[in-house]
Amino acid sequence: MNDFSARVGQSMGALSHVFQFMTQSAYAQHHQDEGICDFAVGNPHEMPLPGFTQALQKWSVPQDKDWFAYKTSEPYARAAVAASLRRRRGIAYDEEDVIITNGAFGALAVTLNALVGPGDEVIFVSPPWFFYEALILTSGATPVRVRVDMQTFDLDLAALARAITPRTRAVIVNSPNNPTGKIYPPPTLEALAQLLTEASERHAHAIYLLSDEASPNRVRRQRLSQPDRILPKRADDLHLRQAVAHAGPAARLYRAAATNAQSRNDTPGAYVVAIHDRRGGGERGHAACAARP
Ligand SMILES: Cc1ncc(COP(=O)(O)O)c(C=O)c1O
Repeated sequence: MNDFSARVGQSMGALSHVFQFMTQSAYAQHHQDEGICDFAVGNPHEMPLPGFTQALQKWSVPQDKDWFAYKTSEPYARAAVAASLRRRRGIAYDEEDVIITNGAFGALAVTLNALVGPGDEVIFVSPPWFFYEALILTSGATPVRVRVDMQTFDLDLAALARAITPRTRAVIVNSPNNPTGKIYPPPTLEALAQLLTEASERHAHAIYLLSDEASPNRVRRQRLSQPDRILPKRADDLHLRQAVAHAGPAARLYRAAATNAQSRNDTPGAYVVAIHDRRGGGERGHAACAARP
């Protein structure tokens, strides 16, 4: 069995309990029964909003001959996402900080593949969105599970600190959290920033915070504090941006780009790569943002 088959096998193994739940559990038998509210995978309970449907209808009408041709991160889409992030979040995102992918899933996959590989460890917070472990395994890195405080669902910073080793390359944080719903408060995120910055300096390489912000637009009444507002340093490395940008289409390119990202972006310090999902926000597409300070 080659290396890639082994990785895919491990990744499928990590998902077997999910498949079992979806196909063989009491949930599988009853989730479509009348009167059941199915919150299991976060699918909507109502019809898509008219504004979303209208935007799809409007922009499915070709505006030029290449409308459905090969596309990369198109400048107008990057500009729209950067402007929206500046407006909503008050962070100085530029167009070139934004890379468009097919969904947050794709953004996580290309970012992990650009940043980590065999021999690296990636910390994920548990209970997790169910695909993190499989995505980390597919990248060749070793997943390290760290439980939240089960009373408050907040990050257990002492446990995170204990889990960091010289091989730690990235930490995945998701707020608002799927599945707990927890929004990590600013003091927690500030302490996390401090922890990762110190650990990066101690181990003399960058530790990336992958901030999976898959559902920020679902938070209406509370001011949302996201890790990318709080971490003192953000990724400011052209090669990282290129690596993530190139990671999608061509496997060979992306291995080369990943090598670049790892060899050239070793400045100690914590960096944040934010995954923004724009589903509820009007723009089409999703972005993995390597933001400049
Ligand atoms: C926390 C989290 N990350 C990533 C994703 C994947 O998002 P997408 O459907 O945009 O690929 C989801 C989907 O529900 C999610 O909840």
